[in-house]
Amino acid sequence: MSRCYNFCAGPASLPEPVLETARDDMLEWHGKGLSLMEMSHRSPEVVGVTEHAEQTLRELLGIPADYAVLFLQGGASTQFAAVPLNLLGDKGGADYVNTGQWSKKAIAEGKRYGKVNVVASSEDTNFATIPPQESWQLGKDAAYLHYTPNETIGGVEYFWTPEVDVPLVADMSSTILSRPINVADFGVIYAGAQKNIGPAGLTLAIVRRDLLGRASAHCPTMLDWNVAAENESMYNTPPTFAIYLADLVFSWLKQLGGLPAMEAINRRKAQKLYAAIDGSSFYANPVELASRSLMNVPFTLADESLDKLFLQESEAAGLLNLKGHRSVGGMRASLYNAVSEEAVDALIAFMQDFEQRKA
Ligand SMILES: Cc1ncc(COP(=O)(O)O)c(C=O)c1O
Repeated sequence: MSRCYNFCAGPASLPEPVLETARDDMLEWHGKGLSLMEMSHRSPEVVGVTEHAEQTLRELLGIPADYAVLFLQGGASTQFAAVPLNLLGDKGGADYVNTGQWSKKAIAEGKRYGKVNVVASSEDTNFATIPPQESWQLGKDAAYLHYTPNETIGGVEYFWTPEVDVPLVADMSSTILSRPINVADFGVIYAGAQKNIGPAGLTLAIVRRDLLGRASAHCPTMLDWNVAAENESMYNTPPTFAIYLADLVFSWLKQLGGLPAMEAINRRKAQKLYAAIDGSSFYANPVELASRSLMNVPFTLADESLDKLFLQESEAAGLLNLKGHRSVGGMRASLYNAVSEEAVDALIAFMQDFEQRKA
C-alpha cells in the first residue's frame, strides 16, 4: 500500500520522515525497553524530549527569553476561553477582528467573559477580504486585541501585523511555522497542533511573561497560563506522545533550513495552485489577491453539480480530503508544511485533466 496525498485541513498531513522515526521508536524508545508513550511524564526521558521540543521551537520561531512556551491541551477552542480568563483583568472588555468562522467562534466565547468590541468585520464580503487597519474602530479601554492571522475555512491570511497599543493576541492555528514571524510583535500566540505542529491533542501557547499571573479568580487552574508556565507544562499529565511527535516535526523543519526555507516552498506551492485556478474559467477562488492564504486554498467548480464527481475521482486518484468546509461548500486544498510540492503538482494535473474532460 502506498501513501496518498492528503490535503486535509486538520488533523493534517505529517512529514513522512517523522512518521518513519515514530514507527521505529514505537515499541522501544532509544533502547529503554519501552515506548515513550509508556513512560512517566516526569521521567528524565520525557522531560528531556519536552525540553528539546521547546528549545527547537524557540530556535525556529526566534522566541525571545521573555516569552513562555506552553504545551497545553483542549485545542485552540479552549484558548478562546483562556484568553479572556487570563487577560481581561479589570478592563472588562477586549477588541476582536472578525474575518471568518474562527474569528466568530473566538468572539462568541469571548462574550461569555466580558464585553467584546468587534473593531471590524469582513462578513459583508462573505469573508473574502481583510478590513484594512485604518478602518478599525479600536475600543478605548480594551485589555487586548484578538485576531485570526489565517482563517482556515475562508482561506484568508494577513500578510501584515496589526499595530496596536494593547497586547496583540493571535490564533495562529493554521499558519504557525509556515513562515517566519516576529514573536516580539505579539502578547500571546496560540495554536492547535494538528496542522503544522504535530498530531491533534496538543495545543501550543506562547505568552509574553508580563502577561502571566493576571488570570481572573474564577479561571480554572487548567486554563491559567501562569500555572502551566510555573510547572513547565507539567501541572498535570501532558500529551507526551503528541509532544514527542511535535519535537520530531520541529527537528525536521530545522533540518530543512527552518522557516525561511519553508516559506519559499510554501509560496511556490500556493502560487502554483492559485495560478492554475486563476488560469481556468472552470475553477474559482473568491479571496482578494492580497489576502490569499498560503495554507488553505478554497475553490469552487463553475458547475456545482460536478462537485461530487470531482471528489470521487480525486479520491480514486489518491488525492484525499479536498471537500470544502460544510459551511462554505466547494473544495479546499490545505497545503501545510508536510504537503509536498509533488502533491500540489499532482493535484493541479488532476484538476486540469478533470476540467478537460468535463468542461
Ligand atoms: C484558525 C483556527 N482556530 C481554531 C480552531 C479550533 O481548533 P481546535 O480544534 O484545536 O480547538 C481551528 C481548527 O481547525 C482553526 O483552524
